[in-house]
Amino acid sequence: MAFTVRFASSPEDHDAGYKLRRDVFETEQNIPRPLDRDAFDYSADHVVAFDDKGHCVGTGRVVRVDSRTAQIGRMAVSKEQRQHGVGALVLEALERMASMRGISELTVNSQLPAEAFYSNRGYSRVGGVFLDQGVPHVVLRKVLVR
Ligand SMILES: CC(C)(COP(=O)(O)OP(=O)(O)OC[C@H]1O[C@@H](n2cnc3c(N)ncnc32)[C@H](O)[C@@H]1OP(=O)(O)O)[C@@H](O)C(=O)NCCC(=O)NCCS
Repeated sequence: MAFTVRFASSPEDHDAGYKLRRDVFETEQNIPRPLDRDAFDYSADHVVAFDDKGHCVGTGRVVRVDSRTAQIGRMAVSKEQRQHGVGALVLEALERMASMRGISELTVNSQLPAEAFYSNRGYSRVGGVFLDQGVPHVVLRKVLVR
């Protein structure tokens, strides 16, 4: 299936991404703190992916931390469309956006089962496992080459 990946630029795009977050993090993973949206969402760059029927099947964001660093987060792909390359497309788009903004280093607080997804795309673990909302996480880092 062909997927359309774009930077979220309309209220509809943002709402579609937030709904997918709720489906994945709250409904599927039962994470106690609502991941619907937070203050960082106002300044973040968001990416959304749609299937050929116009359903939002992927989302993610990148938040600027300082002049050279940004944080990838809220990466979610609908359960039915995982392992079809959507996550990789979303991550690539977020990395391109960060690079265009002059960012040279990305970090991500990754859930433990998602670590291989990031490490297969150039991210390396920094430090040990920690719990966020009771869910085991690791910090990963990637230097962007321009
Ligand atoms: C982590 C997550 C975003 C990855 O999204 P995804 O769309 O499944 O990722 P991709 O399909 O791009 O890549 C996953 C793997 O499937 C493989 N893959 C891609 N297309 C494939 C295909 N057509 N057939 C089989 N495998 C395929 C990729 O090679 C990749 O494997 P690799 O990491 O060994 O290279 C997704 O699993 C998810 O939403 N998980 C639940 C929420 C979550 O944990 N989010 C992360 C919070 S930190």
